[in-house]
Amino acid sequence: MSPNTSTVTNPNQALWEKGDFTRIAATMRESADGLIDSLDITPGMKVLDLGAGDGTTALPAARLGADVLAVDIARNLVEAGNRRAQAAGLTNVRFQHGDATNLGDIADASFDLVVSIFGAMFAPKPFDVAKEMVRVTRPGGRIVMGNWIPNDPTLVAQILRISSAYSPPPPEGFISPMMWGVEANVIDRFTKAGVPAGKISFERDTYTFNAPVSPAAYVADFRNYYGPTMNAFAAAEQNGKATKLQGELEELFARQNKSEVAGATSIPATFLRVTVHV
Ligand SMILES: C[S@@+](CC[C@H](N)C(=O)[O-])C[C@H]1O[C@@H](n2cnc3c(N)ncnc32)[C@H](O)[C@@H]1O
Repeated sequence: MSPNTSTVTNPNQALWEKGDFTRIAATMRESADGLIDSLDITPGMKVLDLGAGDGTTALPAARLGADVLAVDIARNLVEAGNRRAQAAGLTNVRFQHGDATNLGDIADASFDLVVSIFGAMFAPKPFDVAKEMVRVTRPGGRIVMGNWIPNDPTLVAQILRISSAYSPPPPEGFISPMMWGVEANVIDRFTKAGVPAGKISFERDTYTFNAPVSPAAYVADFRNYYGPTMNAFAAAEQNGKATKLQGELEELFARQNKSEVAGATSIPATFLRVTVHV
């Protein structure tokens, strides 16, 4: 059965299987390469990529010689990741289905480095996620997260801000993924998982989205393939407001586009880079 047509009862999984994140991930590869290059990965290092998508960070880590396990909740992305690894001839990276809130039979202390770039932040139950990331990291190992920042003026926070105005209020008790972009929350979550606050550090970093299409066509890619934006459009359509949402997003993308080439889009976005020494 195709992953997109089978019944999924976990809304978190359904959200990410709904679209095809590979279409957006394809515009994020260059920044991922740069980020992975900065992590001092050495051959044989055991790396877990959590919320790995189709391998935007897992594949470059494997190219540096790491032994990579890439875990994601979306089965279509797990399949896409394994296909990309095979096409690249990489035998030291494996994608498997899993949930960041409960890594199941992954053994304690089994990784030197846990990487989660805009991945684990999207899982519910953030305290469970922090606990699981700490549990599977060996003492002396590291966790590196990339998290979007709420109310930041750059692209992703603004897409979410605009989209939320068209979406129904979240269910009772919902914790926004963007809360992972607030330092005090990150400290709270990791200290409750047993890490002293002094071992958690932060920096602002930049990811650049590079798409070989116009800003308006790039908005259409989000509308057609990016689960959270698909949901916002579905809600807007019910209220007859889809054209207005499209217009607001097109204005945002055009305003933030730094490309001087017609028919290309290049948009830098700020994120919070978190490093935890376990
Ligand atoms: C914005 S994408 C980023 C993917 C990838 N890290 C990248 O940089 O391209 C978010 C990813 O988190 C995954 N995800 C969301 N909730 C998850 C969970 N509870 N457990 C594991 N993965 C999850 C989604 O399926 C999706 O692949």
